[in-house]
Amino acid sequence: MGKDLKRQAAAAALSEVRAGMKLGLGTGSTAWHFVDLLGERVRAGLDCIAVPTSEATAAQARGLGIALTSLDETPELDLTIDGADEIGPGLGLIKGAGGAMLREKIVAAASKRMIVIADRSKLVATLGRFPLPIEVDRFGLGATRFALERILARHHGEGAVKLRHVVSGEPFVTDGGHLIVDAFFGRISDPEALSADLRDVPGVVGHGLFLKLCTRAYVAGNDGVETIDA
Ligand code: A5P
Repeated sequence: MGKDLKRQAAAAALSEVRAGMKLGLGTGSTAWHFVDLLGERVRAGLDCIAVPTSEATAAQARGLGIALTSLDETPELDLTIDGADEIGPGLGLIKGAGGAMLREKIVAAASKRMIVIADRSKLVATLGRFPLPIEVDRFGLGATRFALERILARHHGEGAVKLRHVVSGEPFVTDGGHLIVDAFFGRISDPEALSADLRDVPGVVGHGLFLKLCTRAYVAGNDGVETIDA
């Protein structure tokens, strides 16, 4: 069921794609469906070029014959389509369960529009139930964690700051070679202030709060796909 809903949301976003567009391709299980459907359109003759937000998406797109470019060659994109872990008021998002949020944010910010696709389980009244992924440099990890713990306390976080690991027990490493800590807030009452506080920590390379980036969401539920505009 969840898989079908993700595909329905992806199909709705595909209707926004036009010939000649420069696209940003998101990462994750919902974005996977969008890339898969885009591959079908490309096989049918659609001309477009795309920047992937992760090595995983790059491999999928390449396998489908979607022409890829980079933000160095193509610094401005028409449209980025991506998934999200939480969709809150004003289409503020939490992203990064897959660890790709830094590239996802760079690509979204380089796009004229960002559309998010999801099933209804991602809609929340207040962001923060999902642990916020924060990408950090390896250097000075202890000091960075200490600074993040203070920010968590200042923003009334309900949980801890935890270094992300893979199943084998090793730390998770992003495509950019950084580490990720997940911070459990429970409820983020002032996302803008939290985002600014996180940006002030020198060891923080990026974080999963996407504010004022997404302008439309296609959210699939059992009664159809809802369009939400910011
Ligand atoms: C990847 O780093 C994430 O930002 C994903 O876009 C997000 O976790 C949504 O993934 P799913 O579509 O798999 O839920």
